[in-house]
Amino acid sequence: MASMMQTRPNRGRAVLRLRYGSELWRQYLAQTPPGPLDRHLAVALRQYPQFGSRDRRAYRELLFAAARFGYLAAFVDYVHRRHGLEQAAALPALVAGFAQEAGSVEAAWDAVRAVPADWLLQTVGQRYQREGGAEWPLQGLEPLPEAAAIERLLDELQRSELIEARLLWQGIPLCFAAPLAERAARSGWSAEAREAFLQAQARQPPLWLRLNRPERQQQVLQELAAHGLEAQACGEAIAVRGAGSIVTLPCYRDGLVEIQDWASQQIGLAVAARPGEQVWDACAGAGGKSVQLAVMLAGEGELHASDVRRHKLAEARRRVHRAGFANLRLFAWDGRETETPAQEFDRVLVDAPCSSSGVWRRSPDARFRATQASLARFASLQPRLLCQAAAAVRPGGRLVYSTCSWLVAENEAVVEQFLVRRPEFRLLDWRLHGCPGVDADTMFSAVLERQG
Ligand SMILES: C[S@@+](CC[C@H](N)C(=O)[O-])C[C@H]1O[C@@H](n2cnc3c(N)ncnc32)[C@H](O)[C@@H]1O
Repeated sequence: MASMMQTRPNRGRAVLRLRYGSELWRQYLAQTPPGPLDRHLAVALRQYPQFGSRDRRAYRELLFAAARFGYLAAFVDYVHRRHGLEQAAALPALVAGFAQEAGSVEAAWDAVRAVPADWLLQTVGQRYQREGGAEWPLQGLEPLPEAAAIERLLDELQRSELIEARLLWQGIPLCFAAPLAERAARSGWSAEAREAFLQAQARQPPLWLRLNRPERQQQVLQELAAHGLEAQACGEAIAVRGAGSIVTLPCYRDGLVEIQDWASQQIGLAVAARPGEQVWDACAGAGGKSVQLAVMLAGEGELHASDVRRHKLAEARRRVHRAGFANLRLFAWDGRETETPAQEFDRVLVDAPCSSSGVWRRSPDARFRATQASLARFASLQPRLLCQAAAAVRPGGRLVYSTCSWLVAENEAVVEQFLVRRPEFRLLDWRLHGCPGVDADTMFSAVLERQG
C-alpha cells in the first residue's frame, strides 16, 4: 500500500520539482563549458536543506536526464522556433539546418543553454519516458501545450535511420557523426553494433566491482544479495544493479572489493604486472588502476604512482592501503623529460587525460566538455606523455597506453604516431573494451613492448 502511494503521480509535488529542478538546471547552465554535474549537484543541493533523500535522488535523476537529452530538446526547440512543430520540412532538412546552427560542441552547449529550463525539462521528460526505466520525477505535471506535436517529432526521429537522427535521439552533438563512423570502421562494428553503442548512451551502466581477493567472490555475492542488491558475477568482476550504497558494506570497508568499471579493469589486466616487478602508473590520479596493479604485485616489488596533480595521489594511497598493500611510492610528474624516471621499469601505464567520451553513459555532461580547445590540448598532451613515459621502460619491458575515450584520434592515431617516433617499441595488442560488447564504459588500451 505504502509503495502504491509513493508511485501515484502527485501534481503539487511535480510542480515544486519543476520549479526547483529548473532553478538547479539554470545554475548549472551558468558555466561554459559546464563543469562536472555531480559536483554541481553536491554543492547546489546544500541550498535546500529541506529536501529529503527521495527529493535529492529525484533532482539528480532530473538533471542527469537534462544533460543526457538536453541537446535533443534543443533540436526540438529549434524546429519549434524556426519551422513550427507542425512543420512541413522533411527530417533530413531539419537535421541539416540544426547541424549548421549547433554542430560543434561549443554551439551545442549554447543551443542547450538557450532553451528555457522548464520547457527543456518537460521535453526531456517526453524522451525519458520512452526508455521505460525509472519513474520520471515530474510525473503528474500538466503536459506542455505542444506535447502531442513533440511526440510526433520524437516518433519520426526514433524511426529514422539517418546517422544524425540516431545521434540526436541520444542527445549527442552532431559533430560526433564523423568520429563515430571512423570508430565503427576501425573496430569493424556492424550497423547493429553501432546502434547498440548509441542506444546504450541513454542508460547508465551497472556499478562494477573488482575483487581485491578473487577467492572470496561467493562471500561478496552473498553479502550484496543480503543487502538487497542485484549482483551478477562476470569473470572476476561483479555487476551491481539497483539503488543502495556499496561504501557502507563490510566487503567494501574491509577492502575485499573496489569500485572500478569493467572496461577500466581490462586496462589493469593489459598491464599484467607480476609479483616482484617495478611498475609505474604515470597518470595515476585518484588511483583507480593503481589499486589493481598493487593487488597484482601482491606485496612483492614496487608500485610507483604519479600525477601532475599531486593532491589526487593521497586518495590513491588511501585506496592501496585499504586493499592491504603498502609497497607504494608517490611523486608528482607533469610529463616533462627532466623529471621522468630512468629506464628501469618492467611495466609502465600511461592512462592519459582525454575527452572522456567513453564515460558519457555515467557522465552525460562530459559530452559538452569535449570542445575543440580541449581536444586540441589532449592531442598535444597525449603523445608527449606517452613518449616521455616510454623512456622509463627497460628493454623487454611493457608500456600500456590507455584512455576512457572511443575517439580514434585519441587512441590508435596516438599509438601509430608513437610507433613512428619510437621504432624500438612494437605493438603487441590494441583494443576497445566494454560498450557495445559489455554493459560498461568504453575504454581503449594498447600494449607495447620495448625491444632494445
Ligand atoms: C584518465 S585520468 C587517470 C585516471 C586514473 N588512472 C584512474 O584509474 O583512476 C588522467 C590523469 O592524468 C593527469 N594528468 C593531466 N595532465 C597531466 C600531465 N601533464 N602530466 C601527468 N599527468 C597528467 C590528470 O590529473 C588525471 O589524473
